[in-house]
Amino acid sequence: MAEPVQIEFVALKDAAPTSKGKSGKGGGTLVVLAGADLAMSEVTRSILGDAVELVTRAAGTAKFKGRSGSVLDLIAPTGLPVDRLLVLGTAKKPGKDAPAAPDYVSLGGAIMGKLDGVARATVVFDLPETPEAPEQAAADASLGMRLRAYKFDLYKTKKKDDDEKSDVASRVAIAVQDPSAAKREARSREAVADGVNFARTLVNEPPNVLYPAAFADRVKELEKLGVEVEILDEKALHKLGMRALLGVGQGSEFESRVAIMRWNGAKNAKTKPIAFVGKGVCFDTGGISIKPAAGMEDMKGDMAGAACVVGLMHALAARKAKVNAIGAIGIVENMPDGKAQRPGDIVKAMSGQTIEIINTDAEGRLVLADVLWYVQDKYKPQFMIDLATLTGAILVALGSEYAGLFSNDDELSTRLTDVGAATGEKVWRMPLGAAYDKLLDSKFADMKHVGGRHAGSITAAQFLQRFVNDVPWAHLDIAGTGMASPTTDINQSWGSGWGVRLLDRLVSDHYEG
Ligand code: BES
Ligand code: MN
Ligand code: ZN
Repeated sequence: MAEPVQIEFVALKDAAPTSKGKSGKGGGTLVVLAGADLAMSEVTRSILGDAVELVTRAAGTAKFKGRSGSVLDLIAPTGLPVDRLLVLGTAKKPGKDAPAAPDYVSLGGAIMGKLDGVARATVVFDLPETPEAPEQAAADASLGMRLRAYKFDLYKTKKKDDDEKSDVASRVAIAVQDPSAAKREARSREAVADGVNFARTLVNEPPNVLYPAAFADRVKELEKLGVEVEILDEKALHKLGMRALLGVGQGSEFESRVAIMRWNGAKNAKTKPIAFVGKGVCFDTGGISIKPAAGMEDMKGDMAGAACVVGLMHALAARKAKVNAIGAIGIVENMPDGKAQRPGDIVKAMSGQTIEIINTDAEGRLVLADVLWYVQDKYKPQFMIDLATLTGAILVALGSEYAGLFSNDDELSTRLTDVGAATGEKVWRMPLGAAYDKLLDSKFADMKHVGGRHAGSITAAQFLQRFVNDVPWAHLDIAGTGMASPTTDINQSWGSGWGVRLLDRLVSDHYEG
Protein backbone atom coordinates (compact mmCIF):
# COMPACT_ATOMS: atom_id res chain seq x y z
CA MET A 1 0.00 0.00 0.00
CA ALA A 2 1.53 3.31 -1.06
CA GLU A 3 1.72 6.00 1.54
CA PRO A 4 -0.49 8.94 0.64
CA VAL A 5 2.27 11.49 0.16
CA GLN A 6 4.38 12.73 -2.72
CA ILE A 7 7.60 14.43 -1.73
CA GLU A 8 9.74 16.68 -3.87
CA PHE A 9 12.72 18.90 -3.16
CA VAL A 10 12.84 22.52 -4.26
CA ALA A 11 15.36 25.31 -3.85
CA LEU A 12 15.07 27.60 -0.85
CA LYS A 13 15.09 30.60 -3.13
CA ASP A 14 11.88 29.32 -4.76
CA ALA A 15 10.11 28.61 -1.49
CA ALA A 16 8.54 32.01 -0.92
CA PRO A 17 4.82 31.79 -1.62
CA THR A 18 3.50 34.25 -4.18
CA SER A 19 -0.06 35.10 -4.98
CA LYS A 20 0.90 35.87 -8.55
CA GLY A 21 3.59 33.87 -10.33
CA LYS A 22 3.24 30.28 -11.42
CA SER A 23 -0.19 28.82 -10.91
CA GLY A 24 -0.59 26.79 -7.78
CA LYS A 25 2.13 28.57 -5.85
CA GLY A 26 -0.24 30.61 -3.71
CA GLY A 27 -2.46 29.03 -1.08
CA GLY A 28 -1.52 25.77 0.58
CA THR A 29 0.33 25.43 3.83
CA LEU A 30 3.72 26.89 4.62
CA VAL A 31 5.83 25.22 7.28
CA VAL A 32 8.83 26.92 8.87
CA LEU A 33 11.14 25.84 11.67
CA ALA A 34 12.01 27.80 14.78
CA GLY A 35 14.45 27.03 17.56
CA ALA A 36 14.70 28.24 21.16
CA ASP A 37 13.10 31.65 21.74
CA LEU A 38 11.79 31.71 18.18
CA ALA A 39 15.24 31.62 16.58
CA MET A 40 14.79 31.36 12.81
CA SER A 41 17.27 31.21 9.97
CA GLU A 42 17.96 34.25 7.83
CA VAL A 43 16.21 32.66 4.84
CA THR A 44 13.16 31.71 6.89
CA ARG A 45 12.84 35.29 8.12
CA SER A 46 13.09 36.67 4.64
CA ILE A 47 10.44 34.26 3.37
CA LEU A 48 8.11 35.31 6.15
CA GLY A 49 8.86 38.98 5.45
CA ASP A 50 6.49 41.26 7.33
CA ALA A 51 4.72 38.21 8.78
CA VAL A 52 7.64 37.79 11.23
CA GLU A 53 5.94 40.34 13.44
CA LEU A 54 2.68 38.39 13.32
CA VAL A 55 4.53 35.20 14.28
CA THR A 56 6.25 36.96 17.18
CA ARG A 57 2.93 38.28 18.53
CA ALA A 58 1.16 34.95 18.10
CA ALA A 59 4.03 33.11 19.77
CA GLY A 60 3.83 35.44 22.74
CA THR A 61 0.09 34.89 23.13
CA ALA A 62 0.32 31.12 22.63
CA LYS A 63 3.44 30.85 24.84
CA PHE A 64 5.21 29.14 21.95
CA LYS A 65 8.91 28.91 22.76
CA GLY A 66 10.20 26.82 19.87
CA ARG A 67 10.50 23.69 21.98
CA SER A 68 10.73 20.47 19.95
CA GLY A 69 7.28 18.95 19.51
CA SER A 70 5.43 22.25 19.92
CA VAL A 71 3.74 24.04 17.06
CA LEU A 72 2.23 27.42 16.29
CA ASP A 73 -0.69 27.08 13.88
CA LEU A 74 -1.81 30.25 12.11
CA ILE A 75 -4.79 30.10 9.78
CA ALA A 76 -4.93 32.66 6.97
CA PRO A 77 -1.97 34.68 8.23
CA THR A 78 -2.15 38.31 7.22
CA GLY A 79 0.58 39.37 4.82
CA LEU A 80 1.29 35.88 3.47
CA PRO A 81 -0.51 34.42 0.43
CA VAL A 82 -0.99 31.03 2.10
CA ASP A 83 -3.97 29.35 3.74
CA ARG A 84 -2.02 28.34 6.77
CA LEU A 85 1.35 28.90 8.40
CA LEU A 86 2.81 26.31 10.73
CA VAL A 87 5.81 27.18 12.86
CA LEU A 88 7.40 24.03 14.22
CA GLY A 89 9.67 24.03 17.26
CA THR A 90 13.04 22.32 16.93
CA ALA A 91 14.78 23.27 20.20
CA LYS A 92 16.02 20.20 22.06
CA LYS A 93 14.03 19.23 25.09
CA PRO A 94 16.25 19.71 28.12
CA GLY A 95 17.16 16.74 30.29
CA LYS A 96 19.19 13.57 30.01
CA ASP A 97 16.61 11.85 27.82
CA ALA A 98 17.37 14.23 24.97
CA PRO A 99 18.98 12.34 22.07
CA ALA A 100 22.69 12.95 21.53
CA ALA A 101 22.25 13.86 17.87
CA PRO A 102 19.32 15.82 16.44
CA ASP A 103 16.76 13.40 15.06
CA TYR A 104 15.64 14.70 11.68
CA VAL A 105 13.65 11.55 10.93
CA SER A 106 11.39 12.29 13.88
CA LEU A 107 11.25 15.96 12.95
CA GLY A 108 9.98 14.96 9.50
CA GLY A 109 7.43 12.70 11.16
CA ALA A 110 6.29 15.52 13.44
CA ILE A 111 5.88 17.83 10.44
CA MET A 112 3.85 15.23 8.54
CA GLY A 113 1.71 14.74 11.62
CA LYS A 114 0.62 18.37 11.44
CA LEU A 115 -0.07 18.08 7.70
CA ASP A 116 -2.54 15.20 7.91
CA GLY A 117 -5.22 15.79 5.29
CA VAL A 118 -3.47 18.85 3.85
CA ALA A 119 -3.33 18.70 0.05
CA ARG A 120 -0.32 20.87 -0.61
CA ALA A 121 2.48 22.13 1.60
CA THR A 122 5.91 23.68 1.38
CA VAL A 123 8.38 23.07 4.17
CA VAL A 124 11.15 25.61 4.48
CA PHE A 125 13.76 23.16 5.74
CA ASP A 126 16.27 25.69 6.96
CA LEU A 127 17.10 25.11 10.60
CA PRO A 128 18.06 27.89 12.97
CA GLU A 129 21.20 25.89 13.77
CA THR A 130 22.48 24.60 10.44
CA PRO A 131 23.18 20.86 10.60
CA GLU A 132 26.54 19.48 9.47
CA ALA A 133 24.95 17.91 6.41
CA PRO A 134 21.77 19.83 5.65
CA GLU A 135 20.91 17.71 2.61
CA GLN A 136 21.11 14.51 4.64
CA ALA A 137 19.01 16.11 7.34
CA ALA A 138 16.36 17.00 4.76
CA ALA A 139 16.49 13.48 3.33
CA ASP A 140 16.10 12.06 6.83
CA ALA A 141 13.07 14.30 7.28
CA SER A 142 11.57 12.92 4.08
CA LEU A 143 11.97 9.41 5.51
CA GLY A 144 10.14 10.48 8.66
CA MET A 145 7.36 11.98 6.54
CA ARG A 146 6.86 8.78 4.56
CA LEU A 147 6.78 6.72 7.73
CA ARG A 148 4.32 9.06 9.42
CA ALA A 149 2.04 9.20 6.37
CA TYR A 150 1.53 5.41 6.32
CA LYS A 151 -2.10 4.37 6.74
CA PHE A 152 -3.66 0.92 6.80
CA ASP A 153 -7.29 1.46 5.86
CA LEU A 154 -7.79 -1.26 3.26
CA TYR A 155 -10.77 -2.72 5.06
CA LYS A 156 -12.62 0.51 5.88
CA THR A 157 -15.43 0.76 3.37
CA LYS A 158 -16.91 3.94 4.82
CA LYS A 159 -14.89 7.09 4.93
CA LYS A 160 -15.83 9.75 7.43
CA ASP A 161 -17.16 12.98 5.85
CA ASP A 162 -14.30 15.09 7.07
CA ASP A 163 -11.95 12.41 5.84
CA GLU A 164 -12.72 13.08 2.20
CA LYS A 165 -9.31 14.49 1.49
CA SER A 166 -7.48 11.51 2.92
CA ASP A 167 -7.72 9.66 -0.39
CA VAL A 168 -5.85 12.42 -2.14
CA ALA A 169 -2.09 12.17 -1.96
CA SER A 170 -0.61 15.16 -0.20
CA ARG A 171 2.12 16.91 -2.10
CA VAL A 172 4.92 18.15 0.08
CA ALA A 173 7.76 20.28 -1.23
CA ILE A 174 10.84 20.37 0.97
CA ALA A 175 12.82 23.51 0.34
CA VAL A 176 16.59 23.19 0.81
CA GLN A 177 19.79 24.89 -0.31
CA ASP A 178 20.74 22.08 -2.75
CA PRO A 179 17.62 20.20 -3.84
CA SER A 180 19.37 17.80 -6.22
CA ALA A 181 21.79 16.66 -3.48
CA ALA A 182 18.87 16.17 -1.10
CA LYS A 183 16.98 14.23 -3.75
CA ARG A 184 19.95 11.93 -4.25
CA GLU A 185 20.22 11.33 -0.51
CA ALA A 186 16.48 10.75 -0.23
CA ARG A 187 16.42 7.91 -2.73
CA SER A 188 17.88 5.29 -0.40
CA ARG A 189 15.61 6.58 2.39
CA GLU A 190 12.60 6.04 0.16
CA ALA A 191 13.68 2.41 -0.30
CA VAL A 192 13.88 2.03 3.47
CA ALA A 193 10.50 3.71 4.02
CA ASP A 194 8.93 1.36 1.48
CA GLY A 195 10.50 -1.59 3.29
CA VAL A 196 9.17 -0.46 6.67
CA ASN A 197 5.71 0.24 5.28
CA PHE A 198 5.63 -3.11 3.51
CA ALA A 199 6.47 -4.83 6.80
CA ARG A 200 3.76 -2.84 8.59
CA THR A 201 1.13 -3.92 6.09
CA LEU A 202 2.08 -7.58 6.47
CA VAL A 203 1.69 -7.29 10.25
CA ASN A 204 -1.60 -5.38 10.01
CA GLU A 205 -3.24 -7.78 7.54
CA PRO A 206 -5.83 -10.08 9.16
CA PRO A 207 -4.99 -13.77 9.57
CA ASN A 208 -7.76 -14.98 7.25
CA VAL A 209 -6.13 -12.99 4.46
CA LEU A 210 -2.49 -13.46 5.36
CA TYR A 211 -2.27 -17.22 5.91
CA PRO A 212 1.07 -18.95 5.20
CA ALA A 213 0.69 -19.51 1.43
CA ALA A 214 -0.69 -15.98 0.99
CA PHE A 215 2.28 -14.59 2.93
CA ALA A 216 4.60 -16.54 0.63
CA ASP A 217 2.85 -14.94 -2.37
CA ARG A 218 3.62 -11.48 -0.96
CA VAL A 219 7.26 -12.46 -0.59
CA LYS A 220 7.26 -13.38 -4.29
CA GLU A 221 6.56 -9.71 -5.04
CA LEU A 222 10.21 -8.99 -4.16
CA GLU A 223 11.24 -10.68 -7.40
CA LYS A 224 10.45 -7.50 -9.29
CA LEU A 225 13.23 -5.80 -7.30
CA GLY A 226 15.74 -8.46 -8.32
CA VAL A 227 15.48 -10.62 -5.19
CA GLU A 228 15.60 -14.38 -5.82
CA VAL A 229 12.70 -15.99 -4.00
CA GLU A 230 12.32 -19.68 -3.28
CA ILE A 231 9.22 -21.07 -1.60
CA LEU A 232 9.46 -24.45 0.12
CA ASP A 233 6.11 -26.22 0.50
CA GLU A 234 5.27 -28.97 3.01
CA LYS A 235 6.52 -31.70 0.74
CA ALA A 236 9.91 -30.02 0.45
CA LEU A 237 10.00 -29.34 4.21
CA HIS A 238 9.29 -33.01 4.97
CA LYS A 239 12.12 -33.98 2.68
CA LEU A 240 14.48 -31.64 4.49
CA GLY A 241 13.38 -33.07 7.83
CA MET A 242 11.99 -29.83 9.29
CA ARG A 243 9.76 -31.71 11.69
CA ALA A 244 9.98 -29.14 14.49
CA LEU A 245 8.49 -26.51 12.16
CA LEU A 246 5.98 -28.88 10.58
CA GLY A 247 4.76 -30.02 14.01
CA VAL A 248 3.63 -26.48 14.79
CA GLY A 249 1.60 -26.20 11.58
CA GLN A 250 0.05 -29.66 11.65
CA GLY A 251 -3.11 -28.55 13.47
CA SER A 252 -3.91 -25.94 10.83
CA GLU A 253 -5.95 -26.25 7.65
CA PHE A 254 -3.34 -24.01 6.05
CA GLU A 255 -0.13 -25.57 4.85
CA SER A 256 3.18 -24.34 6.22
CA ARG A 257 5.84 -22.68 4.10
CA VAL A 258 9.44 -21.55 4.30
CA ALA A 259 10.41 -18.60 2.10
CA ILE A 260 14.04 -17.96 1.18
CA MET A 261 15.05 -14.59 -0.26
CA ARG A 262 18.45 -13.91 -1.80
CA TRP A 263 19.84 -10.49 -2.65
CA ASN A 264 23.22 -10.61 -4.39
CA GLY A 265 24.44 -7.02 -4.39
CA ALA A 266 28.08 -7.44 -3.41
CA LYS A 267 30.77 -6.74 -6.02
CA ASN A 268 32.13 -10.22 -5.46
CA ALA A 269 29.41 -12.83 -5.95
CA LYS A 270 31.42 -15.19 -3.73
CA THR A 271 31.36 -12.94 -0.66
CA LYS A 272 29.79 -14.87 2.21
CA PRO A 273 26.23 -13.70 2.76
CA ILE A 274 24.79 -12.22 5.91
CA ALA A 275 21.54 -13.86 6.98
CA PHE A 276 18.27 -12.80 8.57
CA VAL A 277 15.73 -15.26 9.90
CA GLY A 278 12.15 -14.47 10.95
CA LYS A 279 9.35 -16.08 12.94
CA GLY A 280 6.24 -16.03 10.78
CA VAL A 281 3.36 -17.39 12.84
CA CYS A 282 0.40 -16.01 10.88
CA PHE A 283 -1.86 -16.69 13.84
CA ASP A 284 -0.95 -18.06 17.25
CA THR A 285 -3.89 -19.54 19.16
CA GLY A 286 -1.42 -21.35 21.41
CA GLY A 287 -2.53 -24.67 19.89
CA ILE A 288 -3.68 -27.33 22.36
CA SER A 289 -2.15 -25.21 25.16
CA ILE A 290 -4.67 -22.63 24.03
CA LYS A 291 -4.39 -18.95 24.92
CA PRO A 292 -7.06 -17.04 26.85
CA ALA A 293 -9.65 -15.29 24.62
CA ALA A 294 -8.96 -11.71 25.71
CA GLY A 295 -6.64 -10.00 23.27
CA MET A 296 -6.04 -13.09 21.20
CA GLU A 297 -6.73 -11.07 18.04
CA ASP A 298 -3.30 -9.49 18.53
CA MET A 299 -1.73 -12.83 17.67
CA LYS A 300 -2.23 -12.01 13.99
CA GLY A 301 0.96 -10.02 14.51
CA ASP A 302 2.97 -13.07 15.54
CA MET A 303 4.68 -12.92 12.17
CA ALA A 304 6.27 -9.50 12.81
CA GLY A 305 9.77 -11.00 12.80
CA ALA A 306 9.20 -12.50 9.37
CA ALA A 307 7.61 -9.25 8.16
CA CYS A 308 10.72 -7.37 9.25
CA VAL A 309 12.97 -9.73 7.31
CA VAL A 310 10.84 -9.26 4.18
CA GLY A 311 10.76 -5.47 4.65
CA LEU A 312 14.53 -5.44 5.12
CA MET A 313 15.14 -7.48 1.96
CA HIS A 314 12.82 -5.06 0.14
CA ALA A 315 14.85 -2.11 1.41
CA LEU A 316 18.23 -3.66 0.55
CA ALA A 317 17.13 -4.57 -2.97
CA ALA A 318 15.33 -1.29 -3.65
CA ARG A 319 18.39 0.73 -2.68
CA LYS A 320 20.71 -1.77 -4.39
CA ALA A 321 22.77 -2.41 -1.27
CA LYS A 322 26.28 -3.69 -2.01
CA VAL A 323 25.90 -6.82 0.05
CA ASN A 324 24.96 -10.46 -0.30
CA ALA A 325 22.05 -11.13 2.01
CA ILE A 326 19.78 -14.06 2.76
CA GLY A 327 16.33 -13.68 4.27
CA ALA A 328 14.62 -16.83 5.51
CA ILE A 329 11.25 -17.06 7.19
CA GLY A 330 9.24 -19.92 8.62
CA ILE A 331 5.53 -19.36 7.96
CA VAL A 332 2.97 -21.40 9.87
CA GLU A 333 -0.34 -21.17 11.70
CA ASN A 334 -0.59 -22.53 15.27
CA MET A 335 -4.07 -24.05 15.71
CA PRO A 336 -5.73 -26.64 17.99
CA ASP A 337 -7.27 -29.51 16.06
CA GLY A 338 -7.59 -33.29 16.01
CA LYS A 339 -4.30 -33.43 14.18
CA ALA A 340 -2.58 -30.81 16.32
CA GLN A 341 0.64 -31.44 18.19
CA ARG A 342 0.29 -32.39 21.89
CA PRO A 343 2.28 -31.58 25.00
CA GLY A 344 4.37 -34.69 25.54
CA ASP A 345 5.01 -35.30 21.85
CA ILE A 346 8.63 -35.78 20.87
CA VAL A 347 9.75 -34.44 17.49
CA LYS A 348 13.04 -34.65 15.63
CA ALA A 349 14.35 -31.35 14.28
CA MET A 350 16.30 -31.00 11.05
CA SER A 351 19.52 -30.86 13.10
CA GLY A 352 18.80 -34.43 14.25
CA GLN A 353 18.15 -33.41 17.87
CA THR A 354 14.94 -34.59 19.54
CA ILE A 355 12.62 -32.20 21.35
CA GLU A 356 10.01 -32.94 23.99
CA ILE A 357 7.01 -30.65 23.49
CA ILE A 358 5.94 -29.10 26.80
CA ASN A 359 3.59 -26.26 25.93
CA THR A 360 2.32 -25.94 22.36
CA ASP A 361 2.11 -22.18 22.83
CA ALA A 362 5.92 -22.05 22.75
CA GLU A 363 5.76 -22.62 18.99
CA GLY A 364 7.99 -19.85 17.67
CA ARG A 365 11.24 -21.39 18.86
CA LEU A 366 10.34 -24.67 17.10
CA VAL A 367 9.87 -22.85 13.82
CA LEU A 368 13.13 -20.93 14.22
CA ALA A 369 15.12 -24.02 15.25
CA ASP A 370 14.70 -25.56 11.80
CA VAL A 371 15.10 -22.38 9.77
CA LEU A 372 18.25 -21.32 11.67
CA TRP A 373 19.73 -24.78 11.15
CA TYR A 374 18.89 -24.77 7.46
CA VAL A 375 20.39 -21.33 6.87
CA GLN A 376 23.67 -21.94 8.69
CA ASP A 377 24.04 -25.34 7.04
CA LYS A 378 23.24 -24.30 3.51
CA TYR A 379 24.61 -20.74 3.28
CA LYS A 380 27.51 -20.66 5.81
CA PRO A 381 26.71 -17.00 6.51
CA GLN A 382 29.00 -14.34 8.08
CA PHE A 383 26.35 -14.03 10.77
CA MET A 384 22.71 -14.87 11.45
CA ILE A 385 20.25 -12.52 13.10
CA ASP A 386 16.78 -13.81 13.91
CA LEU A 387 13.77 -11.71 14.82
CA ALA A 388 10.75 -13.10 16.62
CA THR A 389 7.76 -12.09 18.69
CA LEU A 390 8.95 -14.91 20.87
CA THR A 391 7.94 -14.36 24.50
CA GLY A 392 5.51 -12.40 26.61
CA ALA A 393 8.30 -12.36 29.18
CA ILE A 394 10.32 -9.86 27.15
CA LEU A 395 7.42 -7.42 27.59
CA VAL A 396 7.65 -7.93 31.33
CA ALA A 397 11.40 -7.25 31.25
CA LEU A 398 11.72 -4.41 28.73
CA GLY A 399 8.23 -3.19 27.80
CA SER A 400 8.03 -1.61 24.35
CA GLU A 401 11.12 0.59 24.67
CA TYR A 402 13.80 -1.96 23.83
CA ALA A 403 13.88 -5.28 22.03
CA GLY A 404 15.72 -8.06 23.82
CA LEU A 405 19.10 -8.91 22.31
CA PHE A 406 20.67 -12.32 22.91
CA SER A 407 23.94 -13.18 21.23
CA ASN A 408 27.02 -15.38 21.21
CA ASP A 409 29.11 -12.57 19.72
CA ASP A 410 30.28 -9.33 21.37
CA GLU A 411 31.14 -7.50 18.17
CA LEU A 412 27.75 -8.17 16.59
CA SER A 413 26.06 -7.14 19.86
CA THR A 414 27.97 -3.87 20.06
CA ARG A 415 27.14 -3.07 16.46
CA LEU A 416 23.45 -3.77 17.01
CA THR A 417 23.41 -1.68 20.17
CA ASP A 418 25.05 1.22 18.35
CA VAL A 419 22.78 1.20 15.31
CA GLY A 420 19.88 0.83 17.74
CA ALA A 421 20.82 4.09 19.43
CA ALA A 422 21.33 5.77 16.04
CA THR A 423 17.97 4.74 14.59
CA GLY A 424 15.91 4.82 17.78
CA GLU A 425 15.12 1.09 17.36
CA LYS A 426 16.85 0.24 20.60
CA VAL A 427 18.05 -3.16 21.78
CA TRP A 428 19.12 -4.27 25.25
CA ARG A 429 21.50 -7.18 25.65
CA MET A 430 20.33 -9.98 27.94
CA PRO A 431 22.45 -12.79 29.39
CA LEU A 432 22.93 -16.34 28.14
CA GLY A 433 24.72 -19.09 30.02
CA ALA A 434 25.11 -22.75 30.89
CA ALA A 435 22.90 -22.55 33.99
CA TYR A 436 19.99 -21.31 31.89
CA ASP A 437 20.68 -23.87 29.21
CA LYS A 438 20.46 -26.68 31.77
CA LEU A 439 16.83 -25.77 32.45
CA LEU A 440 16.03 -27.32 29.05
CA ASP A 441 17.27 -30.80 29.91
CA SER A 442 14.56 -33.43 29.39
CA LYS A 443 13.91 -36.83 30.93
CA PHE A 444 12.81 -38.26 27.58
CA ALA A 445 14.50 -36.44 24.73
CA ASP A 446 17.64 -34.41 23.93
CA MET A 447 15.86 -31.36 25.31
CA LYS A 448 12.50 -29.99 26.25
CA HIS A 449 11.47 -26.79 24.55
CA VAL A 450 10.33 -24.77 27.57
CA GLY A 451 12.38 -23.97 30.68
CA GLY A 452 10.51 -23.16 33.86
CA ARG A 453 8.42 -20.24 35.00
CA HIS A 454 11.40 -17.94 35.39
CA ALA A 455 13.64 -16.19 32.85
CA GLY A 456 11.29 -17.16 30.01
CA SER A 457 12.90 -14.97 27.35
CA ILE A 458 16.36 -16.26 28.22
CA THR A 459 15.47 -19.95 28.18
CA ALA A 460 13.73 -19.37 24.83
CA ALA A 461 16.98 -17.89 23.51
CA GLN A 462 18.96 -20.79 25.02
CA PHE A 463 16.72 -23.16 23.11
CA LEU A 464 17.51 -21.36 19.84
CA GLN A 465 21.22 -21.44 20.61
CA ARG A 466 21.09 -25.23 20.67
CA PHE A 467 20.51 -24.99 16.91
CA VAL A 468 23.37 -22.55 16.25
CA ASN A 469 26.93 -23.78 15.74
CA ASP A 470 30.03 -21.58 15.43
CA VAL A 471 28.46 -18.78 13.44
CA PRO A 472 28.05 -15.34 15.07
CA TRP A 473 24.38 -15.12 15.93
CA ALA A 474 21.98 -12.66 17.49
CA HIS A 475 18.37 -13.17 18.46
CA LEU A 476 16.03 -10.19 18.79
CA ASP A 477 12.87 -10.77 20.82
CA ILE A 478 10.47 -8.19 19.41
CA ALA A 479 7.23 -9.18 21.17
CA GLY A 480 7.18 -5.72 22.76
CA THR A 481 8.26 -3.61 19.79
CA GLY A 482 6.86 -5.31 16.69
CA MET A 483 3.21 -4.55 17.30
CA ALA A 484 0.84 -2.60 19.53
CA SER A 485 3.66 -0.40 20.80
CA PRO A 486 2.90 3.25 21.65
CA THR A 487 2.61 5.53 18.62
CA THR A 488 5.44 7.96 17.87
CA ASP A 489 6.19 10.84 15.53
CA ILE A 490 7.12 8.34 12.84
CA ASN A 491 4.72 5.51 13.57
CA GLN A 492 0.97 5.57 13.99
CA SER A 493 0.49 2.00 12.81
CA TRP A 494 -0.31 -1.05 14.98
CA GLY A 495 2.27 -3.10 13.12
CA SER A 496 5.34 -0.93 13.59
CA GLY A 497 7.71 -2.40 11.01
CA TRP A 498 10.27 -2.46 13.84
CA GLY A 499 13.74 -3.66 12.89
CA VAL A 500 13.85 -2.71 9.22
CA ARG A 501 15.62 0.58 9.88
CA LEU A 502 17.84 -1.00 12.54
CA LEU A 503 19.10 -3.79 10.29
CA ASP A 504 19.31 -1.66 7.17
CA ARG A 505 21.61 0.63 9.15
CA LEU A 506 23.62 -2.31 10.44
CA VAL A 507 24.20 -3.36 6.84
CA SER A 508 25.06 0.11 5.52
CA ASP A 509 27.39 0.93 8.44
CA HIS A 510 29.32 -2.36 8.51
CA TYR A 511 28.73 -4.82 5.68
CA GLU A 512 28.69 -2.91 2.39
CA GLY A 513 31.46 -2.10 0.00
N1 BES B 1 3.65 -15.30 20.32
C1 BES B 1 3.82 -15.55 21.70
C2 BES B 1 4.58 -14.45 22.42
C3 BES B 1 3.93 -13.09 22.45
C4 BES B 1 3.22 -12.69 23.56
C5 BES B 1 4.08 -12.21 21.41
C6 BES B 1 2.66 -11.43 23.61
C7 BES B 1 3.52 -10.94 21.46
C8 BES B 1 2.81 -10.57 22.56
C9 BES B 1 4.59 -16.87 21.90
O1 BES B 1 4.38 -17.82 20.92
C10 BES B 1 4.13 -17.46 23.18
O2 BES B 1 2.99 -17.78 23.27
N2 BES B 1 5.04 -17.57 24.14
C11 BES B 1 4.71 -18.12 25.41
C12 BES B 1 5.80 -19.08 25.80
C13 BES B 1 5.48 -19.92 26.99
C14 BES B 1 4.36 -20.89 26.67
C15 BES B 1 6.71 -20.65 27.43
C16 BES B 1 4.61 -16.97 26.39
O3 BES B 1 5.35 -15.99 26.26
O4 BES B 1 3.74 -17.03 27.25
MN1 MN C 1 2.69 -19.01 21.26
ZN1 ZN D 1 3.86 -17.14 19.06
